[in-house]
Amino acid sequence: MPAAVSRFPYDDIFAWYDRHGRSLPWRYRWPEMAPVYHLWLSEIMLQQTVVATVIPYFLEFTRRWPTIGDLAVAPVDDVLAAWAGLGYYARARNLHKTAKIVAHDHAGVFPKNKQDLLALPGIGPYTAGAIMVMGYGQPGVVVDGNIERVMSRYFAIQTPLPKAKAEIAAVYADSRPDTRPSDFPQALMDFANAVCTPKMPGCNICPLASSCRGYGDGIAEQLPRKAAKPAKPRRRGVAFVAINQHGEVFVERRPDSGLLGGMTAFPSSGWTQAHRSDADAAPFDAAPFDADWQKLQPAVQHVFTHFALDMTVYVAGVHAPLPVTGSGWWQKPQPSQLPSLMRKIWKQVERHRPVNGGFKDKPSDQHGDISVILES
Ligand code: ADE
Repeated sequence: MPAAVSRFPYDDIFAWYDRHGRSLPWRYRWPEMAPVYHLWLSEIMLQQTVVATVIPYFLEFTRRWPTIGDLAVAPVDDVLAAWAGLGYYARARNLHKTAKIVAHDHAGVFPKNKQDLLALPGIGPYTAGAIMVMGYGQPGVVVDGNIERVMSRYFAIQTPLPKAKAEIAAVYADSRPDTRPSDFPQALMDFANAVCTPKMPGCNICPLASSCRGYGDGIAEQLPRKAAKPAKPRRRGVAFVAINQHGEVFVERRPDSGLLGGMTAFPSSGWTQAHRSDADAAPFDAAPFDADWQKLQPAVQHVFTHFALDMTVYVAGVHAPLPVTGSGWWQKPQPSQLPSLMRKIWKQVERHRPVNGGFKDKPSDQHGDISVILES
């Protein structure tokens, strides 16, 4: 078993980072510091989302809105549409609110202290720490799930998460070097991603292995321990995709508050509350209009933070104009502007749409070819 360590070998982590660390569009190397606007934007996008998914969104946001002032004056609907596909849309709303506050109340400069950062919408202790350390080069604690894994393994912390968080933050604070403050957490994140991976960690190539207690005890892969999570409840819902003779689909704007708030979506019901049997018994109550709705098989499955969803999709070909109820409208299908659940629904329609396109009568040239309208 390795001897007890007196300090975390951050010099080995820096040596590893200097050779293998990723180049990321928001990343700068000490002593250069990322523009705080970029750092904040990337950190909000990276919450619950992997780096590879975030990169094109980050590039597009910074191309369209090069400064926080530009983002602050953008219409919120443009921001939500650009966010489509990243999920957790409350993040995009908070992003826009924070941009406005920083632009108006702080002259476009993020506060340089944790307390004021924490007062901004969507900024919690992790993001405030990330801004202080990676944006301003100040000492601070930045512990995400990756860093939790490295620390709990290196120090063989057996307490299950989330209870272990305080313990991990304490060992992190003790492990920080006096130099390269902004590089330290980013080096650990990359190292966790490439070597100290959740499954089958690369202990045989790990520069920390000789002093890692988790490795020495033969339990690295089992750490961090996690308290058993209760199973996610399942909900069921119905969604309605109407396609008119021009190949347009009928969509509506979801209410601002709640799931997928303010996003463009196919009419749907049932799924935002606990499983409702009436959505099964009377699915057409939520249909936007009478039509020859045809059920697609199988149901679309999607997992939200707090529940798993089975969404039954109905499709119909209809001849517009129709009396439109509520706030919906017709538009060409634009999957890239839809939230992930709605994109999945559209994919299901493309895959399993009835051969006559959902029209009761025979197909005709008028019905449009949806495959040519689709963005890939
Ligand atoms: N995850 C969250 N922030 C990150 C960063 N700056 N680099 C890599 N992964 C991250």
